[in-house]
Amino acid sequence: MLDEKIAELRSQSVAELARVATPEDLAQLKNRFLTGKTAFLRDLYGIVSKLAADQKGDGGKKVNAFKAELEAAIASKSFAAATTETFEDSLPGASIVPGRRHPIYQTLDEICRVWAKLGFDIETGPEIELEANNFTCLNIPLDHPSRDAFDTFYIRGPHLLRSHTSPVQIRAMRRRKPPFRIIMPGKVFRPDDADASHLPSFHQVEGLMVGPDVTFAQLKGVLLLFAKEMFGEGTRVRFRPSFFPFTEPSAEVDISCFLCGAKGCPACKQSGWMEILGSGMVHPKVFDAVSYNPEEVTGFAFGMGVERICMLRHGVKDIRWFVENNFRFLGQF
Ligand code: PHE
Repeated sequence: MLDEKIAELRSQSVAELARVATPEDLAQLKNRFLTGKTAFLRDLYGIVSKLAADQKGDGGKKVNAFKAELEAAIASKSFAAATTETFEDSLPGASIVPGRRHPIYQTLDEICRVWAKLGFDIETGPEIELEANNFTCLNIPLDHPSRDAFDTFYIRGPHLLRSHTSPVQIRAMRRRKPPFRIIMPGKVFRPDDADASHLPSFHQVEGLMVGPDVTFAQLKGVLLLFAKEMFGEGTRVRFRPSFFPFTEPSAEVDISCFLCGAKGCPACKQSGWMEILGSGMVHPKVFDAVSYNPEEVTGFAFGMGVERICMLRHGVKDIRWFVENNFRFLGQF
């Protein structure tokens, strides 16, 4: 009778202990199993008290042994609960390599920061562009070489990957009313084989200012300020006559070489000058395309290559290094 009752309570206690999930539950269980003459052990004491006098001592020992067993089970449970919380703090931690902005985007951010200081807003357009915006509205004729399939990524129908950021000029002028001044950063695409100075995808920052009296002198003024901010206070700019279908007159802009002080060095190919962008006054036919009246407004535009400027500033000799994902190269910026 006593042995059976002990066996019953033992299996009951094992089952209850297995269900304990938190230290609080365990403390409660310990209280119920062991403290005072609890309900849990009361039946056992009752049975012992009714035993014949010569068997009482034996019965009492069995109950005490079971009580000790319960205590041990509870103690080992609390020990197990504690160890699941520990961790090995002598192991070296996993090291984290901090990331950083890609040098091209560091340069792009810097360019945008300088133009923002000069009061230019930032505007963006899609990388997949309409042929009309990329060419026709910019006065680029059907037989212009840049329209050739070898010079442009055509997609389907009237779409292509934009070959320059100039189509954003068209979108911006349709969306806005003069006067305004904006810059338009973004990716452009040309099916060029990669070499030390070409990639099929690179970045440009386009600029556009339109208003009642925007002049070439203002273009020269802001480009000089930009060049000084980007390349140093002593920088000078030089405008060379050039041609773009969407500007008239047009000019390529060089900066004095900031490495040799325009004396001539390998970086400027001994000329003392480095070419950084194309520019000009917005062509009246471009204003026609966006229904602006060329009699009422004038404007200037410019476009610069971000990779080129980044290479000049940091002395990077091969444009392909920017896209090789080599941490030893990228980690230097
Ligand atoms: N879109 C021209 C290019 O990609 C650059 C440019 C922009 C020239 C604006 C003049 C005015 O070469």
